[in-house]
Amino acid sequence: MTTTLTSAWADNLRFLRALVTNPKSVGAIFPSSPALAQAIARQIDPAAGPVLEIGPGTGVVSEAILERGVAPQNLTLLEYDEAFAQHLATRFPQVHVVQGDAFDLDRTLGARLPFGAIVSCLPLLNFPSAQRLALMDGLAARLLPGAPLIQFSYGLHAPVVPPDGFAVTCTAYVLANLPPAKVWVYRQN
Ligand SMILES: C[S@@+](CC[C@H](N)C(=O)[O-])C[C@H]1O[C@@H](n2cnc3c(N)ncnc32)[C@H](O)[C@@H]1O
Repeated sequence: MTTTLTSAWADNLRFLRALVTNPKSVGAIFPSSPALAQAIARQIDPAAGPVLEIGPGTGVVSEAILERGVAPQNLTLLEYDEAFAQHLATRFPQVHVVQGDAFDLDRTLGARLPFGAIVSCLPLLNFPSAQRLALMDGLAARLLPGAPLIQFSYGLHAPVVPPDGFAVTCTAYVLANLPPAKVWVYRQN
């Protein structure tokens, strides 16, 4: 219990440090709560194929994805911040951690596709609309047919319109998070 609390506070500090260095990219005051992380992970079918998480930060959602039953070798974490990426590689030694830019998927992921689910924890509303749309198109092209693209957001509405041929639904509104957050699932029609 003490160890869990200590590591939670260590993660909060890590997060705060990254927020001060790069506020636009981190885009939140605290890591996601376990309740939000679980609401996201519930949308994943562990048997559907490899899973990609972009913007994993300190790894709270990654942990929920692993607890959902996704094998560590089937999980790829794509994180921009070098200190977060190093922390993730230590915390989840069997998971594939890539340090790089989610807005440059060809370079960062290469031939790594397709995925049975993609989770995006990026603060999308901090990026221009054209950049968000291009990212969603790139992610949609890396999904198996019918697989979910899961994004959380603090706004009332979905943070980006669905790519062509996709629809979006809100699957959870998590009050136990600072601030409360909605979970959005984009899926091919
Ligand atoms: C809102 S935080 C979410 C962190 C964590 N998943 C959570 O839920 O607590 C956003 C994360 O996205 C990462 N990020 C921002 N821009 C990125 C980019 N272009 N490529 C990859 N990761 C990025 C940040 O470094 C940060 O870890």
